[in-house]
Parts: sequence; structure tokens; C-alpha cells
Amino acid sequence: MTAVVRIEKLTKEYRLESVTVRALRSVSLAVEQGEFVALMGPSGSGKSTLLNQLGCLDRPTSGRYILANEDVSRIDDDRLSEIRSKYLGFIFQSYNLLPQYTVVENIEVPLLYQGCRLNDKTRQRCVQLAQLVGLGDRLDHRPMQLSGGQQQRVAIARSLVNDPHVILADEPTGNLDSRTSDEVMQMLTKLNDAGKTIIMVTHENDIAAWAKRIIRMRDGQIETDEQNVRAKVRHEMAGEFSASLSSLLAEAIR
Ligand SMILES: Nc1ncnc2c1ncn2[C@@H]1O[C@H](COP(=O)(O)OP(=O)(O)OP(=O)(O)O)[C@@H](O)[C@H]1O
Ligand SMILES: [Mg+2]
Repeated sequence: MTAVVRIEKLTKEYRLESVTVRALRSVSLAVEQGEFVALMGPSGSGKSTLLNQLGCLDRPTSGRYILANEDVSRIDDDRLSEIRSKYLGFIFQSYNLLPQYTVVENIEVPLLYQGCRLNDKTRQRCVQLAQLVGLGDRLDHRPMQLSGGQQQRVAIARSLVNDPHVILADEPTGNLDSRTSDEVMQMLTKLNDAGKTIIMVTHENDIAAWAKRIIRMRDGQIETDEQNVRAKVRHEMAGEFSASLSSLLAEAIR
């Protein structure tokens, strides 16, 4: 198997006046297609910094990052955003939805960033993604009119619109109660079953328990990296999610 993401001796320093924070210290990591990784570790250990690097949201101070066989540590900004929208999907703790947009419009946003022209076909796909995450009856609602779990499901649908190779999630259940967290994790597990590589930051052991590999960070370095042979048993999800996921993912918009 080939690594879908590979970082080599990646360092990230933040310089603030006279102080330099070494947020990542020569971190090397390879993640293969189909893995489900939980990144854990104490506050300030560098989890979000690492995820931002993997997401091409920030540049390293030194080291290399190979994403889908391309060295992205040194490419220009235009190519970087192209790669980002082609290969990566993002899910954040605070959902990051646009408040003035409806559910369907929020799912369309990555297509706009990609310079894609919206038409009936793209609209249809976004409606199907909304239905996939169980929001078929909320298409015209705005984020304020949705529960936290529903908002995160919009974010999951949005992360899928480009059929990304890798989904990066920073504390995706951080704002949710345990029942709703479970629903979100079941959804991510199904996506992983459908072949999506997932890298997720979490503080909670209960949430990390769903992942197949658990990496713990400390002081900007990887402390432990273990397979989780007892990854949580996947329950059968009700509704249309499982049935329509694969076919929907197969008809990506390019
Ligand atoms: N933009 C920034 N400028 C300066 N320092 C930063 C910046 N972002 C992060 N840091 C510092 O880098 C270190 C790692 O931060 P990071 O956000 O990656 O931690 P984390 O593991 O995600 O923590 P948490 O669990 O609290 O979210 C911290 O010491 C933090 O203060
Ligand atoms: Mg963080």
C-alpha cells in the first residue's frame, strides 16, 4: 500500500517577538489509504498544528510533506489550494458553516472555492449528500435553525462534496453530547468503511476508540503510535446512509 500522506522531519515554529514556540519538532508520519487515525495528546502538544499542516492550511518551517505523491511543502499558493480542494475534506469542532447560507448552499461551498460552476447537476449532488446525512427535510434551513449534531452533519456532507482522499477532522464531536457524538462517529466509520482515509484529533478516549490507529503527541513530537485492534464495533446504521454512500461517492464532481 502507498502512503496517501507522508511527512518527513516536519518542524513548525511560531515566532512571537523574542519567543519561539516549537509546535512540531521533526515529526515523521505516514498514513495509508483507508486508515482511520486518532491524534491524541495534552493541550498544546501540537495536534491542531499537525492537522493544519496535513491540511495544507499552513506551511512548515522545515521538513517535507508528500500528499498523493506530490511534495506540497514547496509548491506555490495556487497549486496548494488546488491540491487542498482536490484531495482533502475538513470537519471542524465548531462546524464552520456560513450562517447566511442554507444547508445545500453550505455543502456547495468547496465547489465554489474550486472554481466549479454551479448547475443542476452540482445542486442535485449536494441535495443527495444532504439526504445521505439525514437532512433531506432540512435543505433550506440555515445553520442557526439546526441542532449541533445536524450542523456537524452538514459539515460532513460538505467535506464529501469533492470526493476527497483524506478527511481531516479537528475534534469533530467536541461540541456534541454523547448520543450525537456517537451518530457522528458512526458516520465517520461508515465513510472509512467506504474507503476514505480519516485523520481525527480528539481529547476523548471514547471517541478515539472508534479509530483503527491511535497516535499520541507530547511537546510537538509523536510519543506513541499504536494500532487499535479493538476499534469500536460498527453498528448498522438506520436510514439511507450506508446504502447510498458508495454510489454517491463514486459520482464525484470534477
Ligand atoms: N498561531 C500560533 N502562534 C503562536 N503559537 C501557536 C500558534 N498556534 C499554536 N501555537 C502554539 O503551538 C503549540 C501547539 O498548539 P496546538 O494548537 O497545535 O495544540 P493542540 O495540541 O491542538 O492543543 P489543544 O488540545 O488545546 O487544542 C502551543 O504551545 C500553542 O501555544
Ligand atoms: Mg487543538
